[in-house]
Amino acid sequence: MADVRSIIAIGQSGQLGLNGHLPWEGKRGRPFVEDVERFFDITRGHVLIAGPKTIGAVPDFARGDRTLVVIRSGDDPQEVLGRFPDRTVYIGGGPKVWDVYAKYIRHWDINRMPYDGPADRWFDPAWLLAGGTAKR
Ligand SMILES: NC(=O)c1ccc[n+]([C@@H]2O[C@H](COP(=O)([O-])OP(=O)(O)OC[C@H]3O[C@@H](n4cnc5c(N)ncnc54)[C@H](OP(=O)(O)O)[C@@H]3O)[C@@H](O)[C@H]2O)c1
Repeated sequence: MADVRSIIAIGQSGQLGLNGHLPWEGKRGRPFVEDVERFFDITRGHVLIAGPKTIGAVPDFARGDRTLVVIRSGDDPQEVLGRFPDRTVYIGGGPKVWDVYAKYIRHWDINRMPYDGPADRWFDPAWLLAGGTAKR
């Protein structure tokens, strides 16, 4: 089975996306620049699985040195993940994808950005515990 992970950046209130981009797109401050660099460093050589908009936004420079996989709502998550035994697979979003794949994610890497403005895509903290069944 793949080692399934996720690396994401959220705003102070869980903002994930706005108008098809990162909500803080274009901000030049160090945390924003470092976050993007870190994302491409950490995912290099691995598999990145995401919805069509997220994969479509991967820049050309990052397309040659990782395996990019577009997933659609009709795909079977177990079949998709089963294609990559012995690989590290990053689940890249968007929210509908995390709704379904969160229960397979063993390692979350969440960078909380200095941004608290508008968004139209949001992080759901319930993803972190998806698949757990014990009662408190
Ligand atoms: N901050 C971050 O770390 C981060 C990371 C990723 C994305 N984003 C942001 O999020 C936005 C893009 O995400 P998005 O949600 O709009 O589009 P998306 O990346 O295309 O992902 C959502 C689409 O994935 C498809 N999908 C694949 N498997 C699915 C499943 N099992 N169940 C349901 N749908 C599934 C669906 O399309 P079909 O029904 O057509 O198959 C769905 O509409 C952008 O604003 C982007 O910047 C932010």
